[in-house]
Amino acid sequence: MCGIVGYVGYRDCSDVLVSALTKLEYRGYDSAGIAVFEDNKISVAKSKGKLKDLVEKMAAEGKPQGHAGIGHTRWATHGEPSDINSHPHSGAKVTLVHNGIIENYKELKDFLVKQGREFLSDTDTEVVAQLLDYYYANIKEPIKAIIETTQELRGSFALGIVFEDYPERVYAVRRESPLIVGVGEKENFIASDVPAIIKYTKNYYLIEHDEIAVLSHEGVEVFDAHYQPVTKELKTADWDVDAVGKCGYPHYMIKEINEQPNAVKQTVAPRIKDGMPCLEECSITPEKLRTIRNIYIVACGTAMHAGMVGKYVIEDIARTAVTVDIASEFRYRNPIIGEGDLIIIISQSGETADSLAAMRLAKEKGATTLAIVNAMGSTIAREADMLIYTHAGPEISVASTKAYMVQLSVMYLFAFELAYAKGKFDEEKLRYYTSKLESMPEMIEKVIAQTTEISQKISTKLMTADSLLYIGRGLDYALSMEGSLKLKEISYIHSESYAAGELKHGTISLITSEMPVIAVATQSALYEKTVSNIKEVKARGAKVIMICKENCEVSKDIADYVLKIPCYEEILLPMLVCVPLQLIAYYTSVQRGNDVDQPRNLAKSVTVE
Ligand code: F6R
Repeated sequence: MCGIVGYVGYRDCSDVLVSALTKLEYRGYDSAGIAVFEDNKISVAKSKGKLKDLVEKMAAEGKPQGHAGIGHTRWATHGEPSDINSHPHSGAKVTLVHNGIIENYKELKDFLVKQGREFLSDTDTEVVAQLLDYYYANIKEPIKAIIETTQELRGSFALGIVFEDYPERVYAVRRESPLIVGVGEKENFIASDVPAIIKYTKNYYLIEHDEIAVLSHEGVEVFDAHYQPVTKELKTADWDVDAVGKCGYPHYMIKEINEQPNAVKQTVAPRIKDGMPCLEECSITPEKLRTIRNIYIVACGTAMHAGMVGKYVIEDIARTAVTVDIASEFRYRNPIIGEGDLIIIISQSGETADSLAAMRLAKEKGATTLAIVNAMGSTIAREADMLIYTHAGPEISVASTKAYMVQLSVMYLFAFELAYAKGKFDEEKLRYYTSKLESMPEMIEKVIAQTTEISQKISTKLMTADSLLYIGRGLDYALSMEGSLKLKEISYIHSESYAAGELKHGTISLITSEMPVIAVATQSALYEKTVSNIKEVKARGAKVIMICKENCEVSKDIADYVLKIPCYEEILLPMLVCVPLQLIAYYTSVQRGNDVDQPRNLAKSVTVE
């Protein structure tokens, strides 16, 4: 998704904007640009490609010199990635950058064309620039013109704006798309996300829908949609510069895989009191849990896969029915939900458009919503009835790893608490499972150490494959879904996950010696059955990589490669098995020479449908 930044201060503005944009690169982008006040005139530099292309262009053609400006990384939606379509876009007196989508841009464009306005690009953003310029030409007052303009816009936007008549000032406004204002010493910032500004300041304001921020050398002012001043609460990010740097790792993804033990500790430890889960600070009490009728888990991608594990665990131990839905399906299938139902929304970013829409729909229908979110202050976090923050810290790699891991840990905490509230766990059992979960950080650390080398070896066997299959049963099937997604999104090798027992109903016809199969078999009750399925694919020539517990004896006629994980409480094994699945995906992508952290066509935070 696009990223926006802005700066007013004493440093070289172009350098600050580029540096801040590098911290938003993780969002995915295909062009970049900046606009800086240079001798009271707005000077624009923009380029298709990566930030280094912009930097090279500025080195060749001259870098805008000044102390106030705006910047942008664009993930193309309206119009191909090109220099012309890159932001910033301008009217006569107005230049702006935009994250989001303007749904009614066509009718606004028709109106502006009738007014004699000409357009250079295919973007919806240029329509906003021209519309704002149109109102500003009449009103001659920036904030009133912004209010007038935003009243006309439908869709989502976070805008960073400069007006040529108001040098050394940056204006910003948002609806739906995220926006923060960073508050430093004699310098202020705007950004789509905190990592962009953390090098300069940890203090920030969260800008609410339709609020307008004005940054100058004197400070920051915020107004509401009626031009009334708003007093904002200053927030402080509780992580530092290291959290958004690679710290010596070659990629964010491998750094984040290694951060998982600590991420789980940060997420789980504060929610355990006297050896038992305690989610009261998240407004979840045993009394409330006892009133739940059905549970729906709604999310996208990896977060939805964490929900799949949650379903198996909750149904198994708390005996409560759980439906897992893809958010983009849930929101349009007229779901039968209402009072007494609990809708759990899982989201790393807390801004995913479909998950947010699903949550709003659930609220409208009278259901209770519980959000499990990593990004502090995000829209989903703010709008949910109940909230459990995961404390993974910033996740920069597009391929989610540590966020998935902490989502799993919260699924367990929740399931244990629910099982106890519903009388399915007695206190002894609750304490036992809670202590096992508490020890997971050490176990994850052990698994990272034990499986890195073998995962690397396995990836050398996979890197030339055109397609592969992940199979498993029960929890292992839920995990396979995530293993398969992780591999395909960063290695670009086609892969599918399949319930092992379902193979022979069609998919087994795909099996040849050219299609490797990764079989996950960690659950004792299903082990024999999965082994039978493995034999079926083996008999058809597949090379099998089997992931199982270290006490399993696996003969050569079953698997070509065996990756063993420690024996532990079986229900918790997904938190261990996901590690080699992540590592296999990572090393396969590295060996294929791909851009691991920013895979093609993908954005970190999907704020459009
Ligand atoms: C894959 C991945 C995505 C996200 C999905 C939901 O590695 O990261 O599948 O899980 O886009 O994003 P959030 O969790 O931000 O709602």
